[in-house]
Amino acid sequence: MSVPFLDLKTQYNQIKDEIGTELAEVLDTCYYVLGPKVAAFEKKFAEIAGTKYCIAVSSGTAAVHLMIWASDLQPGSGIIVPPNTFTASAEGIVLAGHVPVFVDVDKNTLNLSPEKVESFLESCSSSGKPVDPKTGAEIKGILAVDLYGQPAALPELEKISERYGLLLFEDACQSVNASRNGRPAGSFGTAAAFSFYPGKNLGAFGEGGAVTTNSEDIAGRVRTLRDHGSREKYLYDFIGHNYRMSAFQGAVLGVKSAYISQWNDRRREAANRYKELLSGLPLDLPAEEGDVRHVYHLYATHTPKRDELRKHLGEMSVASGLHYPLPLHTQKAYSYLGYKEGDFPVSEWNSASNLTLPMFPDITEEQQLTVAEAVKMYFSK
Ligand SMILES: Cc1ncc(COP(=O)(O)O)c(C=O)c1O
Repeated sequence: MSVPFLDLKTQYNQIKDEIGTELAEVLDTCYYVLGPKVAAFEKKFAEIAGTKYCIAVSSGTAAVHLMIWASDLQPGSGIIVPPNTFTASAEGIVLAGHVPVFVDVDKNTLNLSPEKVESFLESCSSSGKPVDPKTGAEIKGILAVDLYGQPAALPELEKISERYGLLLFEDACQSVNASRNGRPAGSFGTAAAFSFYPGKNLGAFGEGGAVTTNSEDIAGRVRTLRDHGSREKYLYDFIGHNYRMSAFQGAVLGVKSAYISQWNDRRREAANRYKELLSGLPLDLPAEEGDVRHVYHLYATHTPKRDELRKHLGEMSVASGLHYPLPLHTQKAYSYLGYKEGDFPVSEWNSASNLTLPMFPDITEEQQLTVAEAVKMYFSK
C-alpha cells in the first residue's frame, strides 16, 4: 500500500456538493475578484482567528508582506525572524523594505526562542536601542512563526516586544485554528499572516492568504494596499499592489472554514496515533507544549539517519518531506546579510535531521500502520 504525503481528493469528495453550489453562485454573479464571497469569508475567518479584522489577500506571502508594509516602520528597520522557516517569512520583511535579523529557535518546539531573542536584544542594545551588529539596522520588530501548526511562545514574545518597544508580527501560515493559552493563532501582536495554499490546513483551490489584526489602522491600510492604494475606484492614496483574493477562493474557503476545527481535531488524533505507533524507536517525535492546541500542519520527526530513512520510506512507497532542508541564513538569497554556517545550530540541526511524515485529516489507521511498519523495518535493519 502506498501512502501519500497529503490527500486533497478525499476531502474534496466530502464537500463537493457544497463547493459546487458556491462556485456556481460566483459564476452566476460574474463577481470574480473580492466581492460578497470574499467579504463573507473574511467575517468567518476573523472569528476563527479571534480578531476584529480579517483582510483576505492573494497568498500567504502577500499577507506577510502587507502586514509589515502596513505597519509603517522606518525603511531599513531590523525585524527578528527565525532562520528555520519557509522563505516567505523573511521575504516579506525584505519586500517591505526592511532587514531580516535571524535569531535561533528552541530545540524542543523549533519556534523562535524567547530566551535567545532576549539575550540577543540585550547584547545589541548598548546604545539604549537594539541595533543589529551585522547590518547596523535598528531593530523595530519581531516576526514569530507558528511552525508546523504549533503557535510560538507569543505571550513571552509580547512581553519582550513591549519592553523593547518593538512590533510583534505573527506568521500563522501553518497554524489556522491552533491556539495558545486559549488564544487563537493570529490574535497575537500587531498583526498576523495566514496562507491558504492548497496543502495548508485550510487550503483554497489555488492561492490565498489573509491578514488578521485588532488594529483598525493596520486593517484599513492592508485593505487599501492590497488594492493599489485605492479607497475609491481610480483614486489612489498611495502606491499599493494587486494582492486581491479571487472570489472563487473566497467561496471555497467560506465552505471549508466551517470544517477546520473538526479537520484539525482529526489531525490531532492522527498525531496521537503516530505517537503510539512510533514510540520507543530512535526517532524524535514532535513535542506538543501543554498550553497549546497544536494542529499538526506537518508531523515533523527527527533522526540523524534522516536521509537513509527517507530513502527507505520512498522504496516502500511511503511519501515524506523535508521542512526545511536548508535554513534561511545559509541560503544564497540571504547571503548579503553576512551570516555563515554554524551561526544557528538548532536551525541547522533541524535542517539536517527533520523528516515530515504523511499527515492529513483523512489519513486512515491502515495508512498510519503502513508508515509505522516501514519506519520500524528501517530501524530493525
Ligand atoms: C511559514 C510560512 N510563511 C509564509 C508562507 C507563504 O504562503 P504562500 O505559499 O501562500 O504564499 C508559507 C507557505 O508556504 C509558510 O509556510
